[in-house]
Amino acid sequence: MNEIIRNHFLHPRNMGALENPTITARGGDPGCGDYVELELEMDGEEILAVAARVHGCPYAIATTSAFTELIRGRMLSDALEVDDHAVEAVLGGLPEAKRHCSVMGPEALRRAASEFILMHVVTPCGVGDDAQD
Ligand code: FES
Repeated sequence: MNEIIRNHFLHPRNMGALENPTITARGGDPGCGDYVELELEMDGEEILAVAARVHGCPYAIATTSAFTELIRGRMLSDALEVDDHAVEAVLGGLPEAKRHCSVMGPEALRRAASEFILMHVVTPCGVGDDAQD
């Protein structure tokens, strides 16, 4: 484990829960059964705050910590460009056997984005304001 990864593991950023999350979503790795729960507080399409709860190995904690730093403050569409390769790059590389640990954060964000889109397009009657434009 390199020093950057060790630092994120020992001092993970943006962990826990938000007071008023706009969206909560989970991303998991069916291979090992671990998962990440991601909470986002949105202002329009901007990610104002993010918090994560990691149920996984030290690399899952470190990669999720780095992921939250990469997406906080970004527009949702930009944040969706942050994939596991971007996470690995900021951490200075991952051991081959631990690459899969970095996919859970991005997967949770993709699910959160789907939820966000549904929240803004679908109303209880099935047709939202956006669909009427
Ligand atoms: Fe399952 Fe790392 S997340 S081994």
